[in-house]
Amino acid sequence: MKKILPPEELARDARFVRVNIQDTIADPRQAKVSERNTGSAKLEPDRPAAADRARQLMHGIFMGEVQALEGAGRTTFDFTDEEVPFQLKLDMARQSWDESRHCEISVKLAEHMGTEIGEFAEATFLYEAACAPDALLRLTGVNRALEGLAIDVFNTMKLFGDHSGDPVLAACEDWMLADEVTHVKMGSDWLRRLTENDPERRELALEFQRTVDKLFSLGGFRGETDDNPIQLARRFRELAGFSTEEIDELSEVTAEAQAEAEAAAGVNKS
Ligand SMILES: [Fe+2]
Ligand SMILES: [Fe+2]
Repeated sequence: MKKILPPEELARDARFVRVNIQDTIADPRQAKVSERNTGSAKLEPDRPAAADRARQLMHGIFMGEVQALEGAGRTTFDFTDEEVPFQLKLDMARQSWDESRHCEISVKLAEHMGTEIGEFAEATFLYEAACAPDALLRLTGVNRALEGLAIDVFNTMKLFGDHSGDPVLAACEDWMLADEVTHVKMGSDWLRRLTENDPERRELALEFQRTVDKLFSLGGFRGETDDNPIQLARRFRELAGFSTEEIDELSEVTAEAQAEAEAAAGVNKS
């Protein structure tokens, strides 16, 4: 079996539509949703586009679960026991088990919310971060940055389920949120263990995490104001091994990304 499988070779049937992340901005199906987005971007049931946006988000979550399963599974296989501790591979195997359950939950939830596989396009950014040649980068880029984002997304969706009177959505998101906290904590714990005596390597791995975090804060997607559809879940991030300084830094990165996006929009308008 091939080590470090390229994203183009992931197994997908005809229902899945693949796009580059750059192209997603130009995807007419995404535009259809954002066109109807008026006023505050916060995901709340009384917003006109809330149902469409929640469906789109749910489809994105499902694709993220598939790729998280593929990424964690690959990490159990891509490295020798000399390259990474066997215990780390066991953690990734345990994570694969969780992610496969999340795939099943998400595809059923997506149906429950009225979408189906392929309604929205798939970008493979999560799996691409899981192809990093150093396992430590996978743990910061995927487990800490992207699954950290999953914590924020699941918490936001759980609250959306509570507020919109959908106990099925709220319960499913709550269960997956609990698992994601353990996945992010695995990333935090292994980062600490693997770089105990190597501050330089730790800094490089954290730099990769910051790059991924900034990418997913683009346009103010995630943050702590009413302009952010996905709210930063401080309490759950603390449980997942993030320090207060790290959470504050993330909040700043988001504010910076939002300011940059607004500045760019201002330039485009003129
Ligand atoms: Fe998951
Ligand atoms: Fe996960």
